[in-house]
Amino acid sequence: MKLLVLGNGAREHALVWKIKQSVRIKEIYAVPGNAGTASIARNINLSSSDVDAIVKKAKELAIDLVVVGPEAPLAAGIVDQLQAAGIPVFGPTKAAAQLESSKVFSRELMQKHGIPCAAGRYFTDYSEAKSFLKSHKLPVVVKADGLAAGKGVTVTNSMEDALKALDSIMETRVFGTAGDRVIIEECLVGKEVSLLAFTDGETAIPMVPACDYKRVFDRDEGPNTGGMGSYSPPGFFGADMSQHILTTVIQPTIDAMRKNGTPYKGVLYTGLIMTAKGPMVLEYNARFGDPETQAILPRLKTDIVDIMLAVVNGSLNKMNIQWNNDACVGVVMASGGYPGKYKTGFPITVSNKLDKDVTVFYAGAKKMDDGQILTDGGRVLTVTATGKTMKEARDKVYRNIVHVNFEGCHYRKDIASREVN
Ligand code: AMP
Ligand code: GLY
Repeated sequence: MKLLVLGNGAREHALVWKIKQSVRIKEIYAVPGNAGTASIARNINLSSSDVDAIVKKAKELAIDLVVVGPEAPLAAGIVDQLQAAGIPVFGPTKAAAQLESSKVFSRELMQKHGIPCAAGRYFTDYSEAKSFLKSHKLPVVVKADGLAAGKGVTVTNSMEDALKALDSIMETRVFGTAGDRVIIEECLVGKEVSLLAFTDGETAIPMVPACDYKRVFDRDEGPNTGGMGSYSPPGFFGADMSQHILTTVIQPTIDAMRKNGTPYKGVLYTGLIMTAKGPMVLEYNARFGDPETQAILPRLKTDIVDIMLAVVNGSLNKMNIQWNNDACVGVVMASGGYPGKYKTGFPITVSNKLDKDVTVFYAGAKKMDDGQILTDGGRVLTVTATGKTMKEARDKVYRNIVHVNFEGCHYRKDIASREVN
């Protein structure tokens, strides 16, 4: 089979790495890919937002399956266009991807179907939103409706900051049309976990749970980022919790989407918070999470291409998905200055001393013709390690990360530390 993976993050490098282990695979292409995919697949230099060019290329190459990594092409309808061109594709349609691309859509769906989420309301009118917000108790959460690259949510104890957030979404329009509507909701308290599931629109099978770290500095200080690290499994996530979330959140969501006339296929990512009243949904994503995927896929034993084909063909109920019992920790190395301004073009060196079970998944990194790898983005790579215990995996990742270097690099030192202390 020939597969094409869309995207250029460490998530996509991890996907290509896993897909390459499949016995079914003859050729893998990455669009546009990065230094990591360049070493194990063929990169094609097209923008992942150039839907027409990607459909044309996939036809030309007679691709058997396209796997979509990021949310933007999903929200732009790439799945619908590939399907119309007769090309099998792993991912939800534009209508189904609204679970991620519109927080108002997902909130309405959750409320209608009794799926647990924060109490709140959405507004299209700025002054109505403002007067509701002014009378809301603190802390409060203000969210832009649409895609905002992870920056559209403000959780705050200060009414002044909440009003500023509302103003920048609806008046200054910092997120453009993503701020046409705004959600104001209660602040939930608890540990956060990401539970992703494969689904063919009827059956859903959860993956192993993972946690990610959004803030740039240790102890969750500093601004939000695209994700600075992840680990799987979280110790606080009980053995029967996955089944509980499948029953109360994931399956009702999939069933609601089907009844809604927008059947959902691909990976459904649920971002959950474990409150005193049970797990509640913070957000859905319509795709694999980044950096969770880098800590989840090393634990997958089943051939991922078999799973993807079962999703596309609607036969997931016949799949038995197996995971290993290892712990996995992924630590993101970022460019100096990230998530603010940073420079690129620095050589990345990886010593040949890396232990077995340690993998470097590249993100903002490009491979030059002479083989040298240069930094090319904010989050540059994820170093992952697996071990029999979380302590072993964590010790291994930090023992090895010092063998990966580039000028100005920084990373968090506390990924998974709460699991071992
Ligand atoms: P979202 O993009 O909706 O997941 O929000 C980003 C982050 O904001 C989440 O991972 C949570 O840490 C936080 N957050 C979102 N909604 C809430 C809420 N209702 N209560 C507390 N924290 C929240
Ligand atoms: N880790 C959060 C996300 O993928 O959006």
